[in-house]
Amino acid sequence: MVELLNGLLLNGRFGQFLPKTPNEKRKTVNGKRHSGCTFVTKRTVPDLYHIPVLLDACLEGLAIRPGGVYVDVTFGGGGHSRAIVEQLDETGKLFAFDQDDDAAANAASITHPGFRLVRANFRHLRKYLKLYGVKQVDGVLADLGISSHQIDAAERGFSTRFPARLDMRMDQTAPLTAREVVNTYGEDQLHRLLGMYGEVKNARTLAAALVRSRFSSPIETTADLTGILQKLAPKGKEFKYYAQVFQALRIEVNQELVALEEMLAQTVEVIRPGGRLVVMSYHSLEDRLVKNFIRTGKFSGDVEKDLFGNADVPFRAVTKKPVEPDADEVARNPRARSAKLRIAERT
Ligand SMILES: C[S@@+](CC[C@H](N)C(=O)[O-])C[C@H]1O[C@@H](n2cnc3c(N)ncnc32)[C@H](O)[C@@H]1O
Repeated sequence: MVELLNGLLLNGRFGQFLPKTPNEKRKTVNGKRHSGCTFVTKRTVPDLYHIPVLLDACLEGLAIRPGGVYVDVTFGGGGHSRAIVEQLDETGKLFAFDQDDDAAANAASITHPGFRLVRANFRHLRKYLKLYGVKQVDGVLADLGISSHQIDAAERGFSTRFPARLDMRMDQTAPLTAREVVNTYGEDQLHRLLGMYGEVKNARTLAAALVRSRFSSPIETTADLTGILQKLAPKGKEFKYYAQVFQALRIEVNQELVALEEMLAQTVEVIRPGGRLVVMSYHSLEDRLVKNFIRTGKFSGDVEKDLFGNADVPFRAVTKKPVEPDADEVARNPRARSAKLRIAERT
């Protein structure tokens, strides 16, 4: 959990140097690394919408075949997707999912004929692939969480740094906002989610304070919320406390763990035997879930065994330990600091 907080804090700090709108400038990152595809000759990315993390390790993890079919379930700025299509030939395919409409603008520069952007939640992975006539794929990549752009877009309400309406939706058409959560959830519900998703130590006291406060007037903005938090935050650790609470609300608003479980469960059917599952997470709740799933094929309980007592699991871990960025990458991109990449092969 601390890793996620670090990520958020670093994102916040790092974000101060970022342009405020996507696509303000575009820059060429790399025109060379590529395997014969003639559709993308220069790797261009929207300048600092989001810097892709552990890019080479993700590509290696996917073990890309030029004519294969791949899915990037978290398109964002498209950094990983762009690098994937560079390795595909004209018969290869990449389906990229994102539930945030802001991400769509980043797809315009990808001209590979096998590339499709799917504007949807990745919890519908199987359904959308079916819609495109695809039953099985060679690899699925997930780079979880939110992009630097989302954190830095003040009006989205993800950041403690900007006064904004309490929103925090990745999908701006979804019905549940952080405002609804703090103003309508019961005290017990608030207590539970603050403790579970934010590991907030005084979750019960905070839940009671939120309920008391909204009695006199609704909690509408990030500033309203931090005003309440200020009184309960440990001295000298205010910013960390705010980040814990914002993180808990964000996970609840976007049902992040539920969506992750649903998507992972579908990869068993969607990835062909020998295909790859590559997942990068930024906090321990997600990483634990991914690790257990790869080890057991489930989200709780022990490994299933067949009649002969052999483990019956859908994936084999390719790397025993998660891959983490080195010091150089963290220096270049502080957001990478808490990343943990797990790679598995469908058995
Ligand atoms: C960390 S960013 C991905 C960055 C991307 N790999 C890149 O290099 O630019 C995560 C992205 O995934 C999207 N996302 C997160 N959860 C999602 C979900 N359940 N369904 C669809 N998109 C999701 C977010 O909107 C965000 O744009």
